[in-house]
Amino acid sequence: MTQKIAVVGLGYIGLPTAAAIAAQGVPVVGVDVNDTAVNAVNEGRIHIVEPDLDAVVAKAVADGMLTATTEMPAADVYMIAVPTPFLADRSADLSYVERASKSVAAALSGGELVILESTSPPGTTELMAQWVHEARPDLEPGSVLFAHCPERVLPGQVLRELRENDRIIGGLTPEATEKAAAVYRIFCVGELLPTDAKTAEFVKLVENSFRDVNIAFANELSLISDRLGIDVWHAIELANHHPRVNILTPGPGVGGHCIAVDPWFIVAAAPEESRLIKTAREVNDHKPEWVLERAQALLADKPGATAALLGLAFKKNIDDLRESPALEIAHELVTRSADRQFVVVEPNVHEIPKALAGLGNVSLAGLDDALAQADVVVLLVDHDEFAAVTSETLVGKAVLDTRGQWRDR
Ligand SMILES: NC(=O)c1ccc[n+]([C@@H]2O[C@H](COP(=O)([O-])OP(=O)(O)OC[C@H]3O[C@@H](n4cnc5c(N)ncnc54)[C@H](O)[C@@H]3O)[C@@H](O)[C@H]2O)c1
Repeated sequence: MTQKIAVVGLGYIGLPTAAAIAAQGVPVVGVDVNDTAVNAVNEGRIHIVEPDLDAVVAKAVADGMLTATTEMPAADVYMIAVPTPFLADRSADLSYVERASKSVAAALSGGELVILESTSPPGTTELMAQWVHEARPDLEPGSVLFAHCPERVLPGQVLRELRENDRIIGGLTPEATEKAAAVYRIFCVGELLPTDAKTAEFVKLVENSFRDVNIAFANELSLISDRLGIDVWHAIELANHHPRVNILTPGPGVGGHCIAVDPWFIVAAAPEESRLIKTAREVNDHKPEWVLERAQALLADKPGATAALLGLAFKKNIDDLRESPALEIAHELVTRSADRQFVVVEPNVHEIPKALAGLGNVSLAGLDDALAQADVVVLLVDHDEFAAVTSETLVGKAVLDTRGQWRDR
């Protein structure tokens, strides 16, 4: 019997997942509280930016395999991919998961599988099962299966990674793990790694904390090297010649809504034991302020000169500005130097971001144009386009390169 799958939350994760399953000929209903997302999908369009996804969605909708709705339908499998941001105290905001679980609960009749895909603190899948059974005391305990299967795709590569990445499959019971694995086998050729729900929740957070701690180490080295008058890029390059050393590249801070958020869920769950993870978060959160101080010192040496700020995205070669340290630094610099003109260059966006739009002393420009105008240049993101800048172009300019992209200039 063909199962009917409902994917709850049609954002950066839910929509590609729904499309990947529908593309295998399994009927999928996408559910979202946002009419714009639902209408777009039903018209065979997409409302997010992800390469090639438009064609996959258009075909799945045309084939009748993918539809979208704001009403929770009856289904055999529910996959929940709603946001899990953090609250002011940096604990996880589970209100989206709770609301989604309760609306799924209303559609259940027993025998279904509910999979949580949202990145969540350890214990959330168990909590989800409690919410469902509190909302539906008529359902037999154990009659609905629950699992956590975290997502680890890279934006820009989502369709390929959904198919190829290994997946952690953590059921609340072994039966839930087994049934959830069968769902991922529909579209995933990577290894399916069975475990329990709490371990699956923890492992996802561990992966991003690993990245964060390693980036913090590189960022801390950049501060130490600056204090000691050592070129950090050269020092890291030399250290990485050791066969078992692989230090990452320092940068202006850590952004996006995964690496900068997920470690806090571990800290909130075990504050006394998470000293290294917490300190790494603090080191990375402090880095934009340090860059800002260096940039302001550079500007002070060139009174009145136009400054070019290169890159606004939270990492290279993407258009995502969410929680971007580069954007934060640009905003602060422009605001604090109201009497100076700034040009920002972000090859991946076509209009000046809202955070800068209201400020009178900044405009968006192309790279050549910006470099022709500016006597101060701050490189904030190592987009590929910036690698082509020659040392001749930079002669006579005050330069701050936060990514080491021009270290050999
Ligand atoms: N984007 C990524 O690269 C990425 C990678 C790995 C993990 N994650 C995790 O996946 C989860 C989803 O992230 P995302 O980037 O897809 O978020 P998103 O904001 O792009 O999409 C979430 C969608 O859920 C919808 N929604 C909210 N409440 C709902 C409800 N009660 N019922 C139905 N729909 C509802 C929203 O309208 C939105 O369309 C998060 O936990 C995130 O941390 C994201």
